[in-house]
Formats: sequence, structure tokens, C-alpha cells
Amino acid sequence: MTYRIAPLFCRPWTLNNMSPRLIESHYEHNYGAALNRLNAVTSELEALDVKTTPAQVISRLSREQTTLLNSTLLHELYFASLGGDGRTLSDAIASALTRDFGSVDRWRHEFIALAEALTGDAGWIVLTFVPRDGRLLNHSVSGHAESIAGGIPILALDMYEHAYHIEYGANTTAYIAAFMRNIHWDAVESRYSDAIKVLPPRSLDQPEFKDVPSITPEEVQDMLNSGTRVQIIDTRPRHYSTRAQDIVEGAVWRDPERIEEWMGSLSKDEPVVTFCVYGFHVGCQSAAALRKVGFDARYMAGGHYAWKAIKGPVKLFA
Ligand SMILES: [Fe+2]
Repeated sequence: MTYRIAPLFCRPWTLNNMSPRLIESHYEHNYGAALNRLNAVTSELEALDVKTTPAQVISRLSREQTTLLNSTLLHELYFASLGGDGRTLSDAIASALTRDFGSVDRWRHEFIALAEALTGDAGWIVLTFVPRDGRLLNHSVSGHAESIAGGIPILALDMYEHAYHIEYGANTTAYIAAFMRNIHWDAVESRYSDAIKVLPPRSLDQPEFKDVPSITPEEVQDMLNSGTRVQIIDTRPRHYSTRAQDIVEGAVWRDPERIEEWMGSLSKDEPVVTFCVYGFHVGCQSAAALRKVGFDARYMAGGHYAWKAIKGPVKLFA
């Protein structure tokens, strides 16, 4: 694989308080160096006999490759973040920032605060869209290798000294202000509208229970906290429950094999939540059986362990 140079996205002569000399030097000497080194490390890695090369050597080269690849990607994004007036935001991007940060102004303050906190250190400040959550997030990256898994960066500020030193010396505040004044919001918005088309990661698919409604452990916790009356039934299989040490606070254990015997003791006036160990089968089957005879029953997704993972209260299972 040979990585190709990306042409400079912004037009250096149009920038406000960032000279062509600064951008040219950055593009040629830093972005260019990262790309060349990335290609060198990639060829070295590709040429290795992975069966005989020590694992440490492969690992070191692979880490170097990751760092250099991220450096080239972030530099390309940095140059593609510049070239606007920093002020004109379309409704789409302004409302996305307002949704996720409270207001555009609050976003701006948070972004700048992260940049100022990196002063004297090297790194990046990035605005990233996370498809899983459908949200934008500001984050600080020290070094080149950190990124949000599955996130799509749409705006990047380079806080390495080479990005400002020849023009601003140690005055990072002035450099950050200049960057903010040159943000190309139309380009950011185009990347945002591409990013929101990316589907979130696939969720657990249980086609056999597609007609049985579920409830999340967080929702069950909210019901308990708000005093909503709910019947919580732990239907972990008997063989499992005999070695279980704890049970969801507020739940009673009932043998799923004998559901016909105990279902009569439940009230049809209050919702029922059933769950098993991980939420795959038994809790779903119990909810389905209860619904069949008219109970308002749902199964708790993720079961006992999801409840414990959100630190839901448990008690000793006596
Ligand atoms: Fe840079």
C-alpha cells in the first residue's frame, strides 16, 4: 500500500493572520514528512517475514504505522478545517452544536479551553461525530495515535509547536484565536452531513423475540427510583441460580420451568419485568409466556449482568 499526498485543501493566501509561509512549511515539512515516513514504515512492515520476525519488532512497526497514519489523516483534516471566516455557520451545523453542547458559544469555549490546556504540550483538538450515539464530541488528543473508535472527526486543530511557532512563537492564545477565525464551517458541515449517514454499530439481533418488548436496565432503575410499581422477576435457570450469589434488589427469583405455577401470583395491574443471566433466552421466553396470558411483561435487555454492569443494587441471594 502506498499512501498518496492530498493536495492542500485550504487556499493559504486567503487566510486571516496565518501566512502562506506558515501553511507551506507545515504542509511540506510536517505533513509531508509524516506521509513519507508512513510509506517507509508500511513497506518495511509489508516486507517482513512475520513468521520469523520477533513479535516485538512487528508490534513496534505497527504502532509507528498507526501513529503516522493518524498524523497524516489529522493533518489533512486540519488543512481542510481552514479557509472560512470562522463565523458563518449553517443552520445544520449550528443546531447540531447546540444540541450537543448547549449552544455554539458553549462549544467554542470548550474547544478553546481544551486547546489552551494543551499549551506547552503536543497534540490535537478534534471535533468528532460518534455514530453510535449520534452525537458530536470535543476531545483532546496527546500524540497522534488516540482517536475515538468508530468516531468520525470533522474539525481538527493542530497544537504541535510546528503549527504556529514560526509565526506566533510561544503565543498559543493568538494562534488558537487565528485558527478559530479561519474555520471553514461550510467544509465542516459537509463532513458532518457525510458523518451522520454512517449507521451506528449493529445492535444485538434476536429475531426469535422480535415481538417481545424489552426494557433497558437503566429504565428499570428509573422506575424503581421514581417509585413506579413494577414486579421484577428473576427467571435465571435453576441450575444457574443455585450457584448465584446475588440477586437484583427488589426482584424475586422464580423457576422459569414452573412459570405456569407461579404466574397466578402476579398482578395484571402492574407491569412485569423478567430477566435471566445475560438476556438471551429465558427472560425473553418468560416475558413472552406472560404476555400471552395478558400480563404487561417485558424482558430486561442484557439480564442480570447488564444490571450489575450499571451498578444496579443487588442483595445477597439467600
Ligand atoms: Fe502539524
